[in-house]
Amino acid sequence: MTKPLDGIKIIDFTHVQAGPACTQLLAWFGADVIKVERPGSGDVTRNQLRDIPDADALYFTMLNSNKKSLTLDTKKPEGKEVLEKLIRESDVLVENFGPGALDRMGFSWERLNELNPKMIVASVKGFSDGHHYDDLKVYENVAQCAGGAASTTGFWDGPPTISAAALGDSNTGMHLAIGILTALLGRDKTGKGQKVAVSMQDSVLNLCRVKLRDQQRLERVGYLEEYPQYPHGEFGDVVPRGGNAGGGGQPGWVLKCKGWETDSNAYIYFTIQGHAWEPICKALGKPEWIDDPAYKTAEARQPHIFEIFKTIEGWLADKTKFEAVDILRKFDIPCAPVLTMKELANDPSLRASGTIVEVPHSKRGSYLTVGSPIKFSDMKPEVTASPLLGEHTDEVLASLGYSKQDIFNLREVKAV
Ligand code: COA
Repeated sequence: MTKPLDGIKIIDFTHVQAGPACTQLLAWFGADVIKVERPGSGDVTRNQLRDIPDADALYFTMLNSNKKSLTLDTKKPEGKEVLEKLIRESDVLVENFGPGALDRMGFSWERLNELNPKMIVASVKGFSDGHHYDDLKVYENVAQCAGGAASTTGFWDGPPTISAAALGDSNTGMHLAIGILTALLGRDKTGKGQKVAVSMQDSVLNLCRVKLRDQQRLERVGYLEEYPQYPHGEFGDVVPRGGNAGGGGQPGWVLKCKGWETDSNAYIYFTIQGHAWEPICKALGKPEWIDDPAYKTAEARQPHIFEIFKTIEGWLADKTKFEAVDILRKFDIPCAPVLTMKELANDPSLRASGTIVEVPHSKRGSYLTVGSPIKFSDMKPEVTASPLLGEHTDEVLASLGYSKQDIFNLREVKAV
């Protein structure tokens, strides 16, 4: 099957999560992604959190499927020469080294643009160029703190909290993928490559957009009516942590279901959508609430919203999270069970859609990973195993015109 990105060659100079998540996505969609790794060690995640002694860690395999691996010491002259050849033939170079690393290696944007004016150079950094923190190295949780997620996540009486979702890493990679695809379309019009830069702070902040909305509302009116602090608690001058409150105009909360005493995930998320008040009352067996002035409108409900949630928990007490959702869905109430990773891994719908896939791997046996969350009518992205370190070195060098003897010589000087 031909894929939309067939024929696009990408030098994948990425490591850890933010960059690899981006290039993996592009590889699923058909790009020829060549991961350039340091001989002997490769991407640090190959060795991090290993569950099988001599096999690449899941951290690596789950972020590097569908790629080729070329080992190359790009600090050695012989390695630089190979990289230059590859640059001349490639459409995109993606990197997420620490600030200045590519320049120190001798591959500044100016040099790359000189080598291949049509190439798109895409970078992830912790902070954007010119930012007063642009010299900092950054990992996921650092970005969540710098981008506004941590100060607005968690409970008001606890510390700033990190989300399990990779808002700093994979999210930034997704932003970068959009930037690369946009630059490729731009190149079709202008014939020129360009530099695409995404910072982790900016990508987190982009997802915290509604919290910046709330900061401005708070400054104007002094309160935020959808937060648990309203109307009985206090507001300061910054957006507070709102626990599990709904982020828009629909109040919601995580509610206990049957078994919560022993199962830490026996909960559902329940949303009180304004126009669904009547079905909610019917579902809960509380028809008297429908026209009661203390319950009828969102404004009337808000002062005692937690009392309402308590009543709903009473209704949920003899229902599992799955039974509860099966009833509530008939009333068109936005809700979901709180699902564990174990439940998701075994979910037949996710297996059928290709969102959870099992991938055979020569060293590990098969492993589970998350396939493309983007579905197309004309293409089903297929997930293949991540490459072993240097698995495609000979193949890539041969495609660049190196003979067997040249390759032997490169090995002798430990450049590959
Ligand atoms: N051959 C030779 N050298 C190589 C190489 C290769 N194939 N690949 C990488 N290197 C070198 C680089 O040139 C650099 O050397 P230098 O620092 O001497 O110039 C070094 O390896 C990599 O440095 P760095 O990227 O800073 O690694 P680190 O482990 O110290 O830091 C991060 C890791 C993630 C903190 C850092 O890369 C970073 O801040 N990246 C940008 C933000 C980001 O993406 N973070 C999220 C990661 S999920």
